Amino acid sequence: MIRESQNRAAMREKFWELAGTKMGNLLKINKEVEKLENSNEPLLNADISGHMNNDDEVDYRADNQYAGALKKKNEAVSEFAKSKTMKEQREYLPVFSVREELMTVIRDNKIVVIVGETGSGKTTQLTQYLLEDGYAKDGMIGCTQPRRVAAVSVAKRVSEELGCELGKQVGYSIRFEDCTSKEETKIKYMTDGVLLRESLLDAELNQYSAIVMDEAHERSLNTDVLFGILRKVAQKRRDIKIIITSATMNAERFSEFFGRVPTFTIPGRTFPVQQYFAKTIQDDYVDGAVKQALTIHLQNGPGDILIFMTGQEDIEATCFLIADRITKLENVPPILVLPIYSQLPSDIQAKIFEPSEHRKCIVATNIAETSLTLDGVKFVIDTGLCKLKVYNPKIGMDALQITPISQANANQRAGRAGRTGPGVCYRIYTDTVFRNELLENNIPEIQRTNLANVVLLLKSLNVDNLLEFDFMDPPPQDNILNSMYQLWILGALDNTGNLTEMGRKMVEFPLDPPLSKMLIMSEKFGCSQEMLTIVSMLSVPSIFFRPKGREQESDAAREKFYVPESDHLTYLHVYDQWKMHNYDQEWATKHFIHGKALKKVREVRSQLLDIMKTLKMDLNSSSGTDWDVVRKAICSGYFHNAAKIKGIGEYVNLRTGIPCVLHPASAIYGLGFTPDYVVYHELVMTSKEYMQCVTSVDPHWLAELGPMFFSVKQAYGNSMMKRDIEKEGVREMEREMQAEIVRRQTEQRMM
Ligand code: CDP
Ligand code: MG
Repeated sequence: MIRESQNRAAMREKFWELAGTKMGNLLKINKEVEKLENSNEPLLNADISGHMNNDDEVDYRADNQYAGALKKKNEAVSEFAKSKTMKEQREYLPVFSVREELMTVIRDNKIVVIVGETGSGKTTQLTQYLLEDGYAKDGMIGCTQPRRVAAVSVAKRVSEELGCELGKQVGYSIRFEDCTSKEETKIKYMTDGVLLRESLLDAELNQYSAIVMDEAHERSLNTDVLFGILRKVAQKRRDIKIIITSATMNAERFSEFFGRVPTFTIPGRTFPVQQYFAKTIQDDYVDGAVKQALTIHLQNGPGDILIFMTGQEDIEATCFLIADRITKLENVPPILVLPIYSQLPSDIQAKIFEPSEHRKCIVATNIAETSLTLDGVKFVIDTGLCKLKVYNPKIGMDALQITPISQANANQRAGRAGRTGPGVCYRIYTDTVFRNELLENNIPEIQRTNLANVVLLLKSLNVDNLLEFDFMDPPPQDNILNSMYQLWILGALDNTGNLTEMGRKMVEFPLDPPLSKMLIMSEKFGCSQEMLTIVSMLSVPSIFFRPKGREQESDAAREKFYVPESDHLTYLHVYDQWKMHNYDQEWATKHFIHGKALKKVREVRSQLLDIMKTLKMDLNSSSGTDWDVVRKAICSGYFHNAAKIKGIGEYVNLRTGIPCVLHPASAIYGLGFTPDYVVYHELVMTSKEYMQCVTSVDPHWLAELGPMFFSVKQAYGNSMMKRDIEKEGVREMEREMQAEIVRRQTEQRMM
């Protein structure tokens, strides 16, 4: 059998080609089922018995008998969804049966922890109960979500349940997208990042009368910081309700952290889930999952399949493989293959909730673990992996890495199969791996990511000593210091670790520190108009599109926009051209540019512009004549990402000595030679470490803009020496910070 896994990239493209724009429909592979003889034996031989543990081999016969009964049940469920009113659906949820007791506990306590299985109604119902019990009289009911997708989809659902227009009584707010109404909104779903930023404007969060911190068990970076902040808010405000909700893990710790507050458990209505492990270690989890999905589809009665994959690439490959193999089989019932991950356009995301007469096979990231409730899933396939952002303090960089999940995650995943009836969970890893290699719980994000933004935020909330902030699980000191160092280099912190004027401005922008630095500096260089566009372009997913079969054509179209010194300037050029053509969507499509993405850029730009106006920053322009100043301003934000040439297209990071290469689609190649020094937006690790979005710079700029970091001589010196200098820099800052802490403590003692 062909090992498709070697060819993932090609498969992804194939998938998108197949999927086109109307993905859901096109994947409804029924009539086009190609006639193929039984030559595809090897595929189905993907032999389950070899895969499973001997002692818990699946009895498919029994399963098939059971399928008849299940079919009736499933029909009943979907009939239920179709025929029952919203009110009846709401009253069917487990949380409804305990509504009175729950609301009594909330009335009697300022802070309550609520625990319940996924699907018990926490996210959609709690806010409505609070509204119905009059808690929105003097403020809004806020509900935070770690994920943008969840915030939007839940707000939509709740507005439907309440029978109102989204954005009026019920709204949502995510970064760069506020869909609420100042006068009318009573229930506001938002990402935890949004609430965190709001706490900057109003530390007591006075516009809220109640806050539901949803999905607390996820322990996202922003949720963890919010815990500390809300604990303070609760001390200051008598009139607030704070509700922490969690799937069935960690509840004890939350209650403990907030001062032994009551925990309320919503009785679950879950069905048993049979669990199977792989018998041997699979060398390819995509392949393993695909085979398993096909086997389920061919041998079982109704029930949707949910596959937990790592990220977009693997999801697309999996979808393609399933769809492709199904088309090659004869007499196979149709199946609807649906991907779900955060970058997926929301109209396609919505498909997973739509009722379907055929079996659905949903291929998801860990977003489907707890944030999204999918009804009708009977089979779960768990790869045991997820993609996590991991910060490496040594190289000062976040990277997305495929990592084993924890046992707690694995149990959550399995639980997804038992929501509407008994289910089955197939794990693509062995039980030895489960027992010996998976951690019991996952490591909170705060302990593994770059904290530059958090440090900046907390500093501006006057948390002077971060090592003393109320973290439920404090981040490693190394991470804090390194993030502080990064901010110091950018001029956001002074030698004693306090916010500078620059830092104060930076915190106003909902951007990563290097981008806000560039934007602020551009005012001085007289090109803030240009930088505003560049920064906005960097805040949306890629704008260029490259359809299958038209690669050359689309590459040629893109090359027409190239500004050879810089990918950043190339972006600027694209936007300016679009503007000259009256922001025309057709113009964009004609040039192989995603019109929707450009529209988003325009929105982001106008929001950043508002912030600049509030800060009374000058809007100036180099009038398209002097692009060197724009490059110089770009340079001012990227000291961490400066690289020196090593070979053709090959560079090394100036600070870390880590090798990195120009992306093949970089405009820089248009120069005809590769420049000695460049800065880049980010590193993307695939087979090599590609620099994404690159601008050539003059080494003197690095010295001029980052004197604490580079001198002209050093810029040409060896990297060992630079590392020593850098280490000395960190040591010096640590010393000064320590001295400052001692000084303050002495002062306090004397007072
Ligand atoms: O938060 P929790 O996991 O406890 O449950 P929920 O998200 O409030 O979901 C309760 C029910 O609402 C689910 O069983 C779904 O039927 C429904 N729901 C939906 O139809 N569409 C959504 N976007 C979210 C929930
Ligand atoms: Mg929920």
